[in-house]
Amino acid sequence: MAILLKNVDRKSIYLYLCISYFIAIVHCQADKKTKEDGKEFECPQQVGNGNFADPATCRRFYQCVDGFPYLNRCPSGLYFDDISKFCTFKNEARCGPIAATPAPITEPPTDLAVKCNLSDCELPYCFCSKDGTAIPGNLNSDDIPQIILLTFDGAVNLNNFEHYKKVFNKKRQNPNGCDIKGTFFISHEYSNYQMIQKLASDGHEIATETISLQSGLQDKGYEEWVGEMVGMREILKHLSNISKSEVVGMRAPFLKPGRNTQYKVIEDFGFIFDSSIGVPPSDIPVWPYTLDYKIPHECKSGSCPTKSFPGVWEVPLNEHYVKDFEGGHCPYLDQCVLHNHDPEEVFEWLQEDFSRYYEQNKAPYMMPFHTNWFSIKELEQGLHKFLDWTTSLSDVYFVTVTQALTWITDPKTLQQLNNYEPWDCQKKKENTPPPPCNLANKCALNFKTPDLNFTDIRYLETCFECPNQYPWLGDSGGTGIPGKDNYVPDNV
Ligand SMILES: *[C@@H]1O[C@H](CO)[C@@H](O)[C@H](O)[C@H]1NC(C)=O
Ligand SMILES: *[C@@H]1O[C@H](CO)[C@@H](O)[C@H](O)[C@H]1NC(C)=O
Ligand SMILES: *[C@@H]1O[C@H](CO)[C@@H](O)[C@H](O)[C@H]1NC(C)=O
Repeated sequence: MAILLKNVDRKSIYLYLCISYFIAIVHCQADKKTKEDGKEFECPQQVGNGNFADPATCRRFYQCVDGFPYLNRCPSGLYFDDISKFCTFKNEARCGPIAATPAPITEPPTDLAVKCNLSDCELPYCFCSKDGTAIPGNLNSDDIPQIILLTFDGAVNLNNFEHYKKVFNKKRQNPNGCDIKGTFFISHEYSNYQMIQKLASDGHEIATETISLQSGLQDKGYEEWVGEMVGMREILKHLSNISKSEVVGMRAPFLKPGRNTQYKVIEDFGFIFDSSIGVPPSDIPVWPYTLDYKIPHECKSGSCPTKSFPGVWEVPLNEHYVKDFEGGHCPYLDQCVLHNHDPEEVFEWLQEDFSRYYEQNKAPYMMPFHTNWFSIKELEQGLHKFLDWTTSLSDVYFVTVTQALTWITDPKTLQQLNNYEPWDCQKKKENTPPPPCNLANKCALNFKTPDLNFTDIRYLETCFECPNQYPWLGDSGGTGIPGKDNYVPDNV
């Protein structure tokens, strides 16, 4: 009965997602298709949690937790041995499924995160509040800056780079005289690494989305998340000279966080924050919080972490909307329906949405974009009006997500911000990459995904040497040796 209920729950969450994100329609249909093919794995009921062979291939296995199957890929060209239940070398692997091999219990009993305990949660390491809306350091909203976080998802390339340059036009400045800054959550396919190096050398924050932007990642296992996140960070190092220590943020594709798995990878591999969790429309916006405690709002995606991850920051996506929901509500601004508006109306819409933050608790106003926004002139022009207006306000700062978190861990008043070093731009930060070359190498590379039987060509630009093949999951260096990568957590 419990299992039946669980299935119903998952279906209704899935349906809700299909309805609420129209951008996801395409891949909701794709999901349905695999289900009709009858390929969906079901966890055996009697044996409990553990690892199970994938009937389709020895390269993969399922990790069952509380009746839910998470798909895992064996690392580094290894194969799943259905007797030992681990990945091992091909000649030692006994491919499954082999009948009557009970799975060992691999998961400890679920230790769920508990509600925020104020007396046990102190800055700079921990931040929580009852409903997530409290201002850090108990400061008064009149005394603190209004932070705006401009974030851009996906590949950076000729389709969007000139538009981004117009946003960061070197004329728009914060009250401390520094150019406004943003954060880029990079995905690999079709990215131009010379352009990404330019953004990084200009002081913008580079974070990772994933290598492949695959859908359904929220149901996959640890190795898959490591390959996507850590692999993306490696590619940025090789092709844009961005040091690993600078890439500390993560956003899950389609805002579908990977339950506890993704956050374990964040913890193990030295990331500092995630920004994938959507907050349903709320009267008062939610501030970023650490995941020491239960998340202080409803989980919109249905795949939020449930355990405690002490010190890992979540920078949630509050819904954008106006009174009477004209234009709908959306986490990404390009998902609201504003394309029938003229620039002045877009500007007013953004102003009203922004005032819910500015006139209340001044939670950071995140403006998450895909390239889509910039392909509609009225939207782009409305944004420019909004940027010109907000940069004229004496308490509004456009900073990177990491700069915002630095402030939150040790909040300062507006008066203290003129000489606030973390937001200063006088001297270049130590690890900022040098400006890119003028002429990048244009690499035409063979692209072979592990699961497909054909070779394609992908183009890539970088100031560094062209790799042998198009970098991909398991081979972030583009060596041409599939499954070459083997990542070891920082903390072992
Ligand atoms: C909150 O933390 C304090 C200090 O560790 C502890 O004494 C108290 O029992 C906790 N409260 C709850 C409700 O867990
Ligand atoms: C990469 O960046 C470092 C500084 O972070 C710099 O010292 C080095 O010269 C750069 N390498 C290249 C090839 O540009
Ligand atoms: C892969 O492609 C080759 C050549 O096009 C073909 O002969 C072979 O049957 C294909 N294999 C699969 C598994 O599709």
